[in-house]
Amino acid sequence: MATDGSGPEAMVRARGLAKSFGEVEAVKGVDLEVAPGELFGLLGPNGAGKSTLIGMLSTLITPTSGTGSIAGFDIVRERPDVRRSIGLVFQEQTLDRYLTGWYNLKFHAEIYGVPSEEVDGRVTRALRDVGLWEDRERLAGTYSGGMRRRLEIARGLLHRPRLLFLDEPTAGLDPRSREAIWDRVRELNECEGITVLMTTHYLEEAENCGRIAVIDGGEIVTVGSPAELKAQIGRDRVEIVARDPEALREELSTRLGLAPVVEGDTVWFTVAGGRRFVPRVFSEVDAEITSVQVRSPSLDDVFLAHTGRGIDSPAQEGR
Ligand SMILES: Nc1ncnc2c1ncn2[C@@H]1O[C@H](COP(=O)(O)OP(=O)(O)OP(=O)(O)O)[C@@H](O)[C@H]1O
Ligand SMILES: [Mg+2]
Repeated sequence: MATDGSGPEAMVRARGLAKSFGEVEAVKGVDLEVAPGELFGLLGPNGAGKSTLIGMLSTLITPTSGTGSIAGFDIVRERPDVRRSIGLVFQEQTLDRYLTGWYNLKFHAEIYGVPSEEVDGRVTRALRDVGLWEDRERLAGTYSGGMRRRLEIARGLLHRPRLLFLDEPTAGLDPRSREAIWDRVRELNECEGITVLMTTHYLEEAENCGRIAVIDGGEIVTVGSPAELKAQIGRDRVEIVARDPEALREELSTRLGLAPVVEGDTVWFTVAGGRRFVPRVFSEVDAEITSVQVRSPSLDDVFLAHTGRGIDSPAQEGR
């Protein structure tokens, strides 16, 4: 079984999948394959098209063109089968604030057609799984952001889907809540074999994924494991703090033919074999240097290499 998602067994498959909203091409012909059991991340800035892609794959948004399937079911022609196969945690909060944790899950189980004799058992298990059993009688509106997110994940799993979509599951949460969500997601993936397709714009979270697709301006620009993507960059980042960064930039560019960038008191550039290169900086540059740091490529560098800017810059919309 190929781990790159290819082959007949793909859990998620998209071919030329596209969606326009009027003039805005939110998703532009995406090809994607995710294998059963993967923990797969879509990494991209605001407006990249992540939620729109998930919306199409989960049958909530009708594609403008292209095709897609989940566990072999077509996302347009076989919507009920797709919906039975997936659990969905939306980017927006979608709990009923005026219901208790317990009733939020119970109603959802009933809507999804969980057999009535199984409802209470599954809700109990789900609440215990995400550590909310003690809080089951409280109104969801009184939960913290992290508790609400965990309740939403529990809800997404009630009908035992094979694939869980998580759209920005940790956005806006404090580090402890984020860690708790990640623990649960990893456990679901590793111990229960649930395929996870999630979106994030946190680079450090993308590191947790087996593979990631970098998405920008509605297009997937690269796919691979975090280690593969970083290795492909093949260049280290050299950061130099200098008394006069502008003068240093000038020297690095004229004497060493680099294309450095000044950010505050730091000048940085990328170069193959950064550690071997640094001595040349000291021998050929006159500007006063305070400190030098050489970093191996990060996912931020991967993003920069493929899109020409950092992930925190606004998306390139409608290019
Ligand atoms: N219902 C809609 N009507 C019009 N434009 C839309 C609609 N939904 C999304 N868009 C546009 O499509 C583009 C992609 O949006 P999308 O929500 O998919 O991005 P995203 O990657 O999920 O961003 P974020 O990280 O902010 O959640 C944006 O330009 C957005 O404004
Ligand atoms: Mg989104």
